[in-house]
Amino acid sequence: MGLPKSYQLFGHAVSGAILRWYEHAGREFPWRSIDSSGGLDPWAILVSEIMLQQTQTARVVDLLPRFLERYPDPAACARATNSEMIVAWKGLGYNNRAIRLRDAARQIRDRHEGRVPQDLEDLLALPGIGRYTAEAILCFAFGAQIALLEVNTIRVLSRIFHRCYDASGLLEPRALEHLASGIMPEGRAYDWNQALMDFGATICRAQVPRCRECPLSSHCLSAGSVDSREYYHKAVVQRSREVRLLGRPIRLWRGWVIEKLRTRPTGISILALEEICAQEYDTVATEGDRGWLIPVIEALGRDRLVERSGIVSDGDVSLSVTDTIQLKG
Ligand code: ADE
Repeated sequence: MGLPKSYQLFGHAVSGAILRWYEHAGREFPWRSIDSSGGLDPWAILVSEIMLQQTQTARVVDLLPRFLERYPDPAACARATNSEMIVAWKGLGYNNRAIRLRDAARQIRDRHEGRVPQDLEDLLALPGIGRYTAEAILCFAFGAQIALLEVNTIRVLSRIFHRCYDASGLLEPRALEHLASGIMPEGRAYDWNQALMDFGATICRAQVPRCRECPLSSHCLSAGSVDSREYYHKAVVQRSREVRLLGRPIRLWRGWVIEKLRTRPTGISILALEEICAQEYDTVATEGDRGWLIPVIEALGRDRLVERSGIVSDGDVSLSVTDTIQLKG
């Protein structure tokens, strides 16, 4: 079922205005121009989309070229060990993604003759790839005409077409899918999706939208009415819910441990790590807290990011502060 006529006309005007805005104000990114003999490289796009899942665009801009130089195709990445991947992932955070990306590269090598698959189900079967990422790869690498829905596009469309002053006003997924595909200009999926993301990131921003600079402000149903406090409040609540250890989120300790191990290929004892930590943070833990890092290290072990070095006798499962750990080989 198509969109009602009035929506079609309005949608046409909106998409035209956003594409015109994109022509002069769109951002330049390496993943929009990396070329492998006459086209955008599907592997580069897959890697960039995995990085962009949880890392800011500016960081990905800096770090993507270095990663691709080291692992220019799935076959090269498939050969990497866990520790090599973690080292190559330096600066990007959430290191689990590095291991999943390598596992995806192995699956591409073993099941798809080393080429990024062009089928949605095949992409969804790859580790670390969910619906948005799979559809983004299909659109950006293979020209599929899919209207992508992600945090930016959902917010922009909800605000323009509805009164959406806070998160409770976001359109329902089915309505969004219908609207997004209904107004996408024919044959322009690539530009349309990139344009909407740029528009959401720079004009129709989550917390403080720039309605005064927006080419759509006289048509937008939410212009000038967005409740910025709600976004701030949500961020505070989200932060307060994070599991903490010695006053800092566990997520940060995980990153800190991996950071120390990246430069210590032969490993380090947990005790020594805790001492480095005490120096860096001016005693975060006291004598009685010895071993406080063990739960963090155990969780990293379950995620295949670190392992105990040396010989570990059968049945010896609990870590002790004298154990030496290193990045998983
Ligand atoms: N976030 C996720 N994918 C992106 C892309 N292709 N461009 C900008 N931001 C993004």
